[in-house]
Amino acid sequence: MAVRGSFSSRAGFILAAAGSAVGLGNIWKFPFEVGLGGGAAFVVMYLGFAFILCFPVMVTEIAIGRKTGKNPIGAFGELGHGRWSFVGKIGTFSGMLILSYYNVIAGWALGYLVEMLMGNFDVGNNFGAYTTNVVKVVCYTVVFMTVTSYVVGRGIAGGIEKVAKILMPTLIIMIVSLAAYAFTLPYAFEGLKFYLVPEFDEINAATVGGALRQAFFSLSLGMGTMIAYGSYLSKKENIVTASALVTLTDVMIAFIAGLMIFPFVAFNNGGDMTNLVSGPGLLFVNLPNAFASMGPTLGVIVGAFFFLLIAFAALTSTVSLLEVPVCYVVDELKVVRSKAVWYVSGVIYLIGIPSLIGFGISDFFSNSIVLPASTDWLSFAASLADTLLLFGGFCIVTFAAYVWKKENLVAELKNGFENYEETFASKFLNIAISYICPALLALLFVLVVLSHFFGISLI
Ligand code: PHE
Repeated sequence: MAVRGSFSSRAGFILAAAGSAVGLGNIWKFPFEVGLGGGAAFVVMYLGFAFILCFPVMVTEIAIGRKTGKNPIGAFGELGHGRWSFVGKIGTFSGMLILSYYNVIAGWALGYLVEMLMGNFDVGNNFGAYTTNVVKVVCYTVVFMTVTSYVVGRGIAGGIEKVAKILMPTLIIMIVSLAAYAFTLPYAFEGLKFYLVPEFDEINAATVGGALRQAFFSLSLGMGTMIAYGSYLSKKENIVTASALVTLTDVMIAFIAGLMIFPFVAFNNGGDMTNLVSGPGLLFVNLPNAFASMGPTLGVIVGAFFFLLIAFAALTSTVSLLEVPVCYVVDELKVVRSKAVWYVSGVIYLIGIPSLIGFGISDFFSNSIVLPASTDWLSFAASLADTLLLFGGFCIVTFAAYVWKKENLVAELKNGFENYEETFASKFLNIAISYICPALLALLFVLVVLSHFFGISLI
């Protein structure tokens, strides 16, 4: 059997898993969801869900991975005696689907980095034209995918872990410095007020659902990333504290991203937070204008720094998305990693073409979807993937609690955490995994299917 590799240290694992979690979901999606979902009230719910719902799912995924030492398809096949490998299959497919469109957005960020370096701040006013520039979007997405594949091809300790160890600390320094700088801008206070003062009448079932979905996506759950990463983790490590640290890092970075972005947006809008460009354009439209107002030199520095930060955050997530299908091909089809990455990333690039040209380049792929939540292929891929993650998450916890059985899960968690059963964490996790997570995820899955695909909003 091919050598699978492993993380070389506890810190390496935590940084890699946090790197997977911290991504476009935190820096690009979280702020615009906050904008759509009524500001601070959304933030409060997001924080709550991350710990109550997501942390238990993360513990479960890592435990399944470490127990079996296998990719998600192999892991469910083994623990479920062949009958449950469909959960791994759906997860692996969802990961490929996410990567196929995620790479497109990461490509925009890379392109914007270059535009900022050239001082072309006007790109913000021409976001639509930018996303339809075939040569640019193709080149940048190819570059991004190639870098991702190169890192994954280098293996676990020598690729994924090494990159996370460099990029994650750099990212934290960058985001904290940018947020500190954003505080000094005019109108920062208006931006922070919008972000931090909850208006509880903005809370309705749709924003609750949005916060829950966002927390789930942001923590890379429901498709097996954490199963794959867990399969490379030593038995000596404590899964519960590692998961808590990853969850904490992820929510902290999403929170700081908001502290940075809303002052920038307020600065750009002269303090008026009523008519935000929300949705995907929040950052790509508003921020270059904000950087332009900082003057040519400072604007280039801050702008380039900002989009570099996004590219770094995206890269540590794209490698985790690619790792899932790659480790399947390596484990089960016995293809060497250095070759497997290129085959798999080629397939993903092809799957991503509709998203790539579906943001304005091709009229058909931009307008042919007739679903309530999406008209273009990029949003369609994103909605479909979101929905599949919820289904995957539901299957994962239900499987762990009732098929694999809780006592086996507990036995796995005791490796590296001997007195686990005497702790409060074990009591909380027991209830969460048996009841809270399956119930909430099933409910949310049904609500999302109804609203995304049938336009029926029960709430
Ligand atoms: N968590 C990543 C983000 O916030 C996205 C992701 C989802 C990565 C699922 C891996 C698996 O951007």
